[in-house]
Amino acid sequence: MDPIVDLDFIDSRMPEEAAACDTTHITQETQTGKSRKLYIESYGCAMNFSDSEIVSSIMFENGFDTTSDIAQADLVFLNTCSIREKAEQTVRNRLGQINYFKKKKPEMMVGVLGCMAERLKKSLLEEEKIVDLVVGPDAYRDLPNLINEVDGGQKAVNVLLSREETYADINPIRLNSNGVSAFISIMRGCDNMCSFCVVPFTRGRERSRDAHSIVREAEALVAQGYKEVTLLGQNVDSYKWASEDGTESVNFAQLLEKVALVSPDLRVRFSTSHPKDITDEVLYTMKKYDNICKYIHLPAQSGNTRVLELMNRTYDREWYINRVDAIRAILGDDCGISSDMIAGFCTETEEEHQDTLSLMDYVQYDYSYMFFYSERPGTLAARKLEDDIPLEVKKRRLDEIITKQRETSLNRNKRDVGKVHKVLVENFSKKSKEQLSGRNDQNKVVIFDKKHYKKGDYVNVLVHDCSVGTLFGQAID
Ligand code: SAH
Ligand code: SF4
Ligand code: F3S
Repeated sequence: MDPIVDLDFIDSRMPEEAAACDTTHITQETQTGKSRKLYIESYGCAMNFSDSEIVSSIMFENGFDTTSDIAQADLVFLNTCSIREKAEQTVRNRLGQINYFKKKKPEMMVGVLGCMAERLKKSLLEEEKIVDLVVGPDAYRDLPNLINEVDGGQKAVNVLLSREETYADINPIRLNSNGVSAFISIMRGCDNMCSFCVVPFTRGRERSRDAHSIVREAEALVAQGYKEVTLLGQNVDSYKWASEDGTESVNFAQLLEKVALVSPDLRVRFSTSHPKDITDEVLYTMKKYDNICKYIHLPAQSGNTRVLELMNRTYDREWYINRVDAIRAILGDDCGISSDMIAGFCTETEEEHQDTLSLMDYVQYDYSYMFFYSERPGTLAARKLEDDIPLEVKKRRLDEIITKQRETSLNRNKRDVGKVHKVLVENFSKKSKEQLSGRNDQNKVVIFDKKHYKKGDYVNVLVHDCSVGTLFGQAID
């Protein structure tokens, strides 16, 4: 999944910990005078952030306003991630801190949601004494019942996975919204079995959400003034929805078109594309509509065919290069491409690591999320392969990947200097209220002087300078 877009994060998108340890707190509270208050923190990928908005909606219907102040909360939820060991450790540390608040307010309920809840199930109750409820990603409709159980003095667990649940009918409460861009979850789960990955175990089988409900959500967002949506799934290219009577069937390219047609003023993004599944039809649909952003997150994981095979990614280096060539041929050199890379997967040799660096040279990624391999219990790799690359070697290889990415990011950003970019303004710049920050089509952050512009405006910006993570320019009226 494409990790969350947060400006601090983008500026420092190189570190290993970026995706897994990114956290969001509520910035928009519901204050409607309900009797109890929910505080929720989200860890991990955009799916989790989107799920927290569904959870907040369910809780709102059941007597809970949201608060951004943990000390005010009657109920604290951590929506957790298991992707790497470090992501889980972050949550455990946070539970330790929350204990401090619970000591002051013993009636405060603490719930662990999301992937770590699903992975550890009820053992989490034994391991972390302050936890009152453990709820997996497909069980959020059951939250009101589970809260009742906790109110009655018991601990509560529901980690049942579902083949159908898509929460299609639930209207998410936007928690962190800048009022400009929003996530729309289009599918859940994952049917791939990448050998390093815990997601198929924590999120269950892949299922696609009703296309009409997705379009309706996009229309509602436009009516509320939103200017950008990101369609989310672990593998959006395998989106496939059919109506119950079988008269209608929608694939990802068709869905993309339907959402693009909602409004020419609505930017459409999507994540994550899987190299084995991304079709030319998707690329041609992107080309056809100006409002579909020319940016693709296409995680390679490795540049070596043997390692890709061990990872069970089901494509090889040549296939991946062929997909990149198709992107360049259909959408041109300006289309942004980003990746995820894993350093030091089981048995990876120095030569194989060099293949990852040479793939990065070939593709010229705009940016990447880079990690060293972290063995996850229960995965195919944990069962079948030895995690035999010493930590120092993993870290050194990761460093080399990061250095390479910094080079290519800077190359790609330098190409943007001297050109005019259409920027959707999202916020003030982090450094000054006199400057605005937004993103161009290729998902790059652009900073420029505010003048009379404001959040939600599309502004043409002439870029005059860049760093590894940011473009700088001036608005041209
Ligand atoms: N569905 C997306 C990825 C979701 S997980 C895809 O297929 O691309 C986000 C990223 O975390 C992955 O792309 C991978 O680079 C990284 N990741 C997953 N499991 C990992 C592990 N065990 N160790 C290190 N990185 C991992
Ligand atoms: Fe994990 Fe692979 Fe599914 Fe992505 S496609 S979520 S890496 S199993
Ligand atoms: Fe996402 Fe982490 Fe779960 S990356 S799907 S929250 S394991």
